[in-house]
Amino acid sequence: MLYQLRQDLITGLRDATADAGYDYEIDISDIEVEDVTDEEKGEFSSPLSFSIAADAGEPPVAVAESIADAHRANGLPDGIETVTVEGGHINYHADRSALANETLSAILEDGTEYGTRTVTESDTILADVSSPNIAKPLHVGHLRNTILSDAVMNVLEARGHDVTRDNHLGDWGVQFGNLMHEYTEFGNESDFESDPIEHLLELYQQFEQRDSMLEDLEENEPVTDRFKESVEEEREYHTESGKEWFARLEQDDEQAVDLWETFREVSIDRFEETYADLGVDFDIWMGESFYAREGWNDVVIEKALENDVAMRGEGEAVYIPIYPDDYENVGDPNAADVDPSLDRAREMLEESDDLEDADFEPFYIVKSDGSTLYGTRDLATIEYRLQEYDADQSVYVVANEQDRYFQQLFVAARKMGYDDIKLKHIDYGLISLPEGSMSTRKGQIITAREVLDRARDRARDIVEEKGRSAEGEIQTVANKIALATVKYEMVASKRARDITFDIDESVSLEGDTGPYVQYAATRGYSILDGADAVPAADQIDPSNFNETDVELLYELARYPIVLERCEERYDAAPLAHYLLELAHVFNSFYHKNQVLEAETARDERLVLTEATTQVFENGLDLLGIDVLEQM
Ligand code: ARG
Repeated sequence: MLYQLRQDLITGLRDATADAGYDYEIDISDIEVEDVTDEEKGEFSSPLSFSIAADAGEPPVAVAESIADAHRANGLPDGIETVTVEGGHINYHADRSALANETLSAILEDGTEYGTRTVTESDTILADVSSPNIAKPLHVGHLRNTILSDAVMNVLEARGHDVTRDNHLGDWGVQFGNLMHEYTEFGNESDFESDPIEHLLELYQQFEQRDSMLEDLEENEPVTDRFKESVEEEREYHTESGKEWFARLEQDDEQAVDLWETFREVSIDRFEETYADLGVDFDIWMGESFYAREGWNDVVIEKALENDVAMRGEGEAVYIPIYPDDYENVGDPNAADVDPSLDRAREMLEESDDLEDADFEPFYIVKSDGSTLYGTRDLATIEYRLQEYDADQSVYVVANEQDRYFQQLFVAARKMGYDDIKLKHIDYGLISLPEGSMSTRKGQIITAREVLDRARDRARDIVEEKGRSAEGEIQTVANKIALATVKYEMVASKRARDITFDIDESVSLEGDTGPYVQYAATRGYSILDGADAVPAADQIDPSNFNETDVELLYELARYPIVLERCEERYDAAPLAHYLLELAHVFNSFYHKNQVLEAETARDERLVLTEATTQVFENGLDLLGIDVLEQM
């Protein structure tokens, strides 16, 4: 099939390059073969000659010609008809109709497994997904994280990896000491009962606001020194008390632990509601607290000191010094992935003020007051994942605000000697909603809930307008359309991009939307509904397929390659884009062709339609989107 064909082309290219006399060491993973689907360029195209040309001192076209000749002489893989050279590119033309039968039988035989389990080596992957901080509501950013990470992990699993999804809750740190202070001092039982998260958020904000209060005061009116002092004293009192509460928590004090557990439980309960709405699941919820409470932080701190990776600072402080050169020596097994960003980080470090007093920047793992930090817990997590899971990869779906932090973390991890694990920050851009599209009365936070409710309301309007669903079904159908909208929108753009999510516009059966793709699949089901029986794939005659049929077929054959691309990029955008393409091609297939009424190719097209619905089902399922047999 197409996927295998591409693999064969890659090995064939490597051999042909050597046989043509270019004996440069070529890493097989460096050989690019893009699928193009273009009359002139054929189905596959490789830019390999461009990277050889400079070393060989020949123009790319000449290199390409020699490699193509050698490949021809060695024999092209089955399924490839010709190889041509155009502008230095080596282009391969597949025998499309020969692919027809094979592709169709593969899809119909493999069903939901079509295109999956393609990797030769299965990695054990531990992934941080969703990972909100407790005591706050999930907001629209968490929605992007949760949906993106679910889709990416689904793809990695489908490819054949062993993925453990870890909801790495932010449930430890001095901010919870602050919250305990605020709660014991100003908390209100009945407010807490009626909406615990809302109440905790208010208290949290109240604590934070004390910091800016003095500045606000000074700006607006002249204040006396005495008054200033008293405000400062007041603030000092609250901050100190917050620290004490956290210290009590770290020392396992019963009252502190009880309070913290209550905050954690009400938070998880609320999170679970949204996760259930989204239909996402996690394998483990290992929150930051686990590493603090189970002694993993200590393991890391001791190890760092023992191996002279860390130094002691003021008070009880311990830090890992990071030198500019460290960014070069990370020795990442997937260096290609990380290098460019590390180079940038290195430049930033060289320019930054942090280096004024020293020639390194400190990555703190213990603060001067003896408490641990976010970074300590992240190093502890890597230690744990290696020891308990023998993980090959530790990956982090976290917004790009933390790019810099993860670069430092990864360098610190290499210095700790965690070399045999791939570390990857799957970062994504900001998400915003168009101005004024939502009320933001809760201090700028747009909750995930509000977004989902809004999408459901809009979807309900659409379903009611169509008037086809029975009353009892309207809500179910609307819900599925709403989820298709939100989920599609969250992954449709490359993850690094910032996105603006216009709910009202995206809840639509037209345009580049999730429901448009969903609806294309529904059309497929209704065609199949109209046929009594669909023949088996080996009972049809592929020579009956016309140009439009073949185009659709070819699109179906590409599916496994798209999944591979998603894995390479740790992104679901290529899949989202592919499904949209497939919807377009399928729509033009049945507009241009007769299916049920076809005279010659009825059986063939029914099989093709069935295969198409299968691929829609598989692809949408990876994005977490349900198909609708009826709409
Ligand atoms: N809880 C963190 C936050 O909301 C994200 C945690 C990401 N994972 C990690 N291992 N640092 O910012």
